[in-house]
Amino acid sequence: MPTLSDFIYTQFRLTIPIPTASFASKTVIITGANGGLGKEIVTHTVRLGASKVILGCRSKSRGDEAKHAIESTLQCNPEILEVWEVDLESEVSIKSFVNKVNELPRLDVVIHNAGIQGQKFKRVYGTERTLAINSIGTFLLAFQVIPKLKETARLYRVTPHMTFVGSALYDVAKFPEDHGGDIFDWYAEESRMSGMNQ
Ligand SMILES: NC(=O)c1ccc[n+]([C@@H]2O[C@H](COP(=O)([O-])OP(=O)(O)OC[C@H]3O[C@@H](n4cnc5c(N)ncnc54)[C@H](OP(=O)(O)O)[C@@H]3O)[C@@H](O)[C@H]2O)c1
Repeated sequence: MPTLSDFIYTQFRLTIPIPTASFASKTVIITGANGGLGKEIVTHTVRLGASKVILGCRSKSRGDEAKHAIESTLQCNPEILEVWEVDLESEVSIKSFVNKVNELPRLDVVIHNAGIQGQKFKRVYGTERTLAINSIGTFLLAFQVIPKLKETARLYRVTPHMTFVGSALYDVAKFPEDHGGDIFDWYAEESRMSGMNQ
């Protein structure tokens, strides 16, 4: 579990190196790209020279707003950024996103950044909504884009990458000793949620 001194070190003293590797000719997908960390990742990826950056957003209008803000900051070619709708709470939405991915000539990087910290209990995919979006929806998308990443590796002789944005809070989470073998089933019950999720 992170200690208080870990927290102070990481928040106030640690300087994280700014990535400098070239993204020239690369196609990149970033989910949850209309705000927060996702929008910053998009901005930096364009700075690093990516040819195509796809903003995976559950709201097209919020995605378009972010696209225009980034274009106005960077004065980049508007053809680099595309906004594609994807709602990780919906298998149908994920499938239609994947169908578009399969039409791309190449896919080099996928950054799974979209996520929530649920405030109210809601059941999605038969479990609690935060787990559903951050784990089930995220991996439904991840598994379905692997063939395109592999194809890109083969055709362009490159090493594609997939990244998941997580949280150090995983180390603080308390799980019961026995959640009955299926953690998703266990957390489908509202009474089993506590703390931040209530
Ligand atoms: N900021 C931190 O201190 C921190 C710390 C630890 C981990 N993280 C993780 O880092 C990631 C980004 O955090 P952030 O602070 O930048 O969060 P944020 O500002 O709340 O952004 C989250 C993004 O995820 C999108 N999203 C939420 N539910 C979605 C769904 N069902 N389908 C598709 N997109 C969805 C949101 O879209 P809408 O705008 O439409 O809601 C938004 O674009 C998250 O995975 C978070 O868990 C952040």
